[in-house]
Order: sequence, then structure tokens, then C-alpha cells
Amino acid sequence: MEISKRSLGLDTATQEKPRKTSGHRSDMIVWIDRLAVLPFLAIELKTPTTPINDPVFFGDALAKGRYWKSKYFALWNMKDFELYETPPASRTPTPADVVKKSSRPLALTRVDDWLKTSFKKDLHEQAVEIMDAAVNHNISGLSNHRAIDPDIFVTRLTEDIGQLRTIFYRDLKKASATDRKLRKKLREIATEQGFEGFVDDIDYAIAGQIGYRYIGQILFYFALRRKIPALRELKIGTQDVLPAALKPFFDDVRRYDYEALFKPEAIEALVPIAHQGQAIIRRLIAQLAVYDWASLTDDVLGSIFEHLIPRGQQILLGQFYTPRPVADLLVASTIDGARPFVLDPGCGSGTFLMSAYSYLAYAANLSHKELLSIIWGFDVSPFAAELAVINLYRQDMAEYENFPRINVSNFFSRNQNDTIDFPAPQQASSMKKVPVPIPVFDCIVGNPPYLRSQNQDDLDPSYRRRLFQSAVAAGFDAGAKTDLFAFFIYHSTKLMKQGSRLGFVTPASWLTSDYAIPLQRALLDTIRIQSVIASNAEAFFPQVDINAVLLIAEKGPSNAPDQPIKFVTLKKPISVLTEGKGEYWERVSSLAEEIDSDKSEENDRYRIKLVDPAIERAALNADRTKPRNWSKFLRAPLSYYSIFDDVA
Ligand SMILES: C[S@@+](CC[C@H](N)C(=O)[O-])C[C@H]1O[C@@H](n2cnc3c(N)ncnc32)[C@H](O)[C@@H]1O
Repeated sequence: MEISKRSLGLDTATQEKPRKTSGHRSDMIVWIDRLAVLPFLAIELKTPTTPINDPVFFGDALAKGRYWKSKYFALWNMKDFELYETPPASRTPTPADVVKKSSRPLALTRVDDWLKTSFKKDLHEQAVEIMDAAVNHNISGLSNHRAIDPDIFVTRLTEDIGQLRTIFYRDLKKASATDRKLRKKLREIATEQGFEGFVDDIDYAIAGQIGYRYIGQILFYFALRRKIPALRELKIGTQDVLPAALKPFFDDVRRYDYEALFKPEAIEALVPIAHQGQAIIRRLIAQLAVYDWASLTDDVLGSIFEHLIPRGQQILLGQFYTPRPVADLLVASTIDGARPFVLDPGCGSGTFLMSAYSYLAYAANLSHKELLSIIWGFDVSPFAAELAVINLYRQDMAEYENFPRINVSNFFSRNQNDTIDFPAPQQASSMKKVPVPIPVFDCIVGNPPYLRSQNQDDLDPSYRRRLFQSAVAAGFDAGAKTDLFAFFIYHSTKLMKQGSRLGFVTPASWLTSDYAIPLQRALLDTIRIQSVIASNAEAFFPQVDINAVLLIAEKGPSNAPDQPIKFVTLKKPISVLTEGKGEYWERVSSLAEEIDSDKSEENDRYRIKLVDPAIERAALNADRTKPRNWSKFLRAPLSYYSIFDDVA
């Protein structure tokens, strides 16, 4: 009753069933939120005959605080109390760490004394004193800033994210069980983002994306306040309703930038934040406010962001990523020039963007700001875009004007010379944004989504239409069962300079499938295939059960002289082939150059088979109903060709 009367931001106090280890007495718990299992204070209650300084009493109380994971624990023998903060398991507190002791001992001597009216009143007052002491300490802790221990910090965040996801998952599942439209929408999202058919549970992936998005936004807000003091302190009252109460704060940031992170997205509206979810987010904000953000070094913050979502989790969230050595080889094989514009049209969490960043910082010696202005990424998934922004941002957080060119958008709606508002490079503090035209790119890299043919029908029909229209607009006649990644190639050609290169991880199906006849033709005429790289030693895209190859192609004029196509089969993992002394990027570049060979050759590291595109073109033209079988060039040992001359 006191709790609700005094509006302490607390929920209720309950007697919980005794734990097996705690004897008969039940546990008295004061809750931030009982339903969400968010305890605030655990009280170890003993009889007046137990001295307050009894070490067993202290040990029992500490064990209770740890068991319930309450922020505070207290010893109370109906005469005196002592209040403590529950420390992490790595630290053992002593009575000297006491936060508050009772101001005046009560005169009870036996348990039954509490039945006497005067003692009843005294006990009531003392209970209030314990609670007030904890609440006051919690509030004054806000100004008494604590340093961040990254491990504890990430663990706490991970717990919060886990709890939030569970709540969103439960609600999404419940709602979608009876709401056909919602079910359809969820499937469409999964198909559009390319994880339909690749994750076990779509609801779980989407619930996780929503949970991570909120937590990432809140964390990023605190991080940005270190650099942008004009941002207000993020405060959410107990009566405020989320997510509406967050909006004014996030809108404020968007005046600077970080649109990709803070713009409200349809995915968040799929499920309201239940009561428990509200409590978790509120508690998280209160906890984050306790930390001393100003003294947090950039590298610590960077490492927090890096570890926030373990790679393994990303898969469950429908985010598939390319292993870094694979992205690095593609980047080193395709990026050229002193200040090239680079795009990943479905950038996910930014693997290729970070690879391009690192490569260009090394090879072209560009500054963080220069790099951020030439490395572009699009993604339909707001969650993915959020990760990409954070990942690029954290490459150099000391740099204030730090605005990654990441945009939440459907690649097929993006055309050259469309403009996107980004902050003016010199005027970040004036909050002025300027429309930046999408450039023509010198290089397009990535691992675009693939679509299994059984999932093709789940694509929203208008999206399907748009895909085919975009292919036509780029001058290609896409076949009926065209895989999604091929549309990415077609549309990319519209955003590429003459002489620019494309480097994609793709399924190997286009090397042999009927749907790929127009693609094979395009790769011989318009965007000319340079190399196809396969591996006998590793899967290029291990998270999905699909045979993947690397495609490197160049957009040349139609009258450009033919160059032989290189079919490369690696016999060792890329990480092994790039081992050695010296700079990492030197080693990756030298592998890229080595396999860009002008003769067929085979050794214990790789096999390269050169093929004449003129022969392939003529054969495709001779029979327009059959694809060429290009996978055989990746399989047969070179000795095979010397015996049979050619295997056409
Ligand atoms: C296989 S993931 C690749 C992620 C990243 N490139 C990597 O390799 O680590 C494909 C990404 O493409 C995005 N995507 C799918 N369709 C898209 C579209 N039409 N426009 C932009 N992004 C899209 C998905 O959301 C997903 O993040």
C-alpha cells in the first residue's frame, strides 16, 4: 500500500515462496515490476533475537539479493536494519559497504511484539524507512555517476534484450495466431529481408529485431549525448507510455542525422510494448543514466557496440553475414581508384562496408570523414541499417561529424540522382541537412539476398512487379524464376560508372540453371564477367545451406574487347591463402592479383581455368533455350582439358 501511495516508481511488495536453500521463511521482495520479474529490494527478515551484526544473517541476506538479482538487499531483525547494494558475483561486500542503517532501533524483543499496536506502527515506519533509503540511494546514484565496466554492461543489456524479445515474441505469436493479415505481413517481411526459409521461426526473428532496435536506439542516444550536448537527458516518467514517449527524443537526434537508426519504422508498429516491456525499457534507461558517459572512452564504447549482438544471435534474427575474409577478397578484387564511391545495396550489418572502410583507409589513406562520405549502404531492414550505422560509426567515435551514408530503403526504389538528406559536411553543429544525390558508383559489393524458388510466391506481388520492372528499366529481360540476387545485379548496372566493378557473393545456381539464361547473356554483354571464384575448402556463406560462389563483373562499353573469363577454384580457405608476414591488406591484394591471372594454371593453392567469352556467347546465341554449363569449369582439373582440349 505504501508503495503505490508514495509513487516511488515501484510496483508492489510480495512474500515469495522460500527457496529450497533458505529454510522455511519466505522471501520479502519489493518489485520494480512483479510481472516482468524485475525485483528492486530483497529483505532478509529475522526475529529480534538475531543480532543485526550476525555474519550468518549478513550471508543469508546477500545470498537472497543475489538469488533474486535485486538491486538492493536488506537485513531486518524488527529492531534494526541495514541496506546494501547487491554487488556482482565477482565482488564480496562487507558490512562496511552499508548504504544505510536504521536511524533509531525499535524496542521489540520478541516476534509476537509486532501484534502490539504501538510496535505495529513502529514497524510500519521502519519498513518505509528501508524502502525510502533504497529509493533515495537509487536516485542519488544517478548523480553519483559510476564508471562503465564493459563486461557487466553488455551482460546487463543482453539480459534486457532477452527479456524484451521474449515479451515481443509472446505477443507477436499470440496476435499472429488469430490475425491473418499480420501473419501475411510477417512472412512478407521475412521474404523481403531474405530470411524466409532460412530461419526456424520468423516471429522469433522479427521479435528479436524489434527488441534490439529499441535497445540499440536507447544506447546510441546515450552515446551521442557525449558528443552532442544539446540533446536532452533521456527521461521517461512512470506514467509515460512507450514507445510514444521516446519519439520526441529520437526526433531530436534526427535533426542531426542517424535517420537510419531513429526514424520510426513499420516493423516497430507490429506489436505494442506490453506492460512488462515498458518496465524493462524504463529500468534500462534509469540504469544507463547512472553511468558516467562523459568519461567513457571511445574504444570501450566501440567494444560495447561490437559485442552487443553476438554473431550467432544475428542469424536467429534473420541477419546473415558474409565471413570477413570472403568480403575482404571481394573488396580487394573490385575496389579501385583514389576516392571511389562504394555501395553495398543490401548492406546488412555492414560487413562489406567495414571491409571497404578498412581497405580504403589503408590503400587510399583517406580520413574517417572522407571514408564515410564515399561508402554507401542501403537495406530494407531498419534493424540491419541500425547495425551498419553503429558499426561504421564506431570505426572512429572521436570524430564528431560522423554520419554514415546508410539509408533504410528498398534498393529497387533507389535511382541515380535521387537525393537523400544528410548533414552538410562542415555544418554538423548547425543541424543543417543538404540533399545529397546518390552518386554513380565505382564499385558495388555485397551479398544480396537469395530466394529459394519455393519462397518466390511469398513475395508481395507489387514487390515482384517492381523487380521485373526494374530489370526492364535497366535493359534486361529477366526470366520467370529469376532469383532475387539477379535483380540486384540488373539494377546495380544503373548505378555503376563505365569501367566500374561489381563483386557479389551469389548462389552457384546461375552457372547452370534455366532461369539464368538472360543473366548469363547479360554477363557476357553488358556487365562482363571477369571471374567466378569457388572453393573446395570452405563455404563462402556458411550460414545458409546453399552453394555460394563469388562473382566479379565489370560494366564496360558494349564494344569493349573480350577478356578471358577466369574460373577460379580455391583449394584452401581464404584466411589460409592470405596468411603470412606484412600488412594484412597487402596479402589480400596479392591473392586477388594472383588469381586474376592471364593464364590457366593449377597449384596446391588454387586452379584457374580461362575461358573465351566469344565461344560462350556464340553458344548461347546458337541455342537460346539452354543455359551454358559454367560450373564444369570450376570442377574439372586442368589435366582434363589437356586430354579433351575443350569440354564444351
Ligand atoms: C544476405 S544479407 C547480406 C548482408 C551483408 N551484405 C553481408 O554480407 O554481411 C542480405 C541483406 O539484404 C537486405 N535486402 C533484401 N532485400 C533488399 C532490398 N530490396 N533492398 C535493400 N536491401 C535488401 C536484407 O535485409 C539483408 O540485410
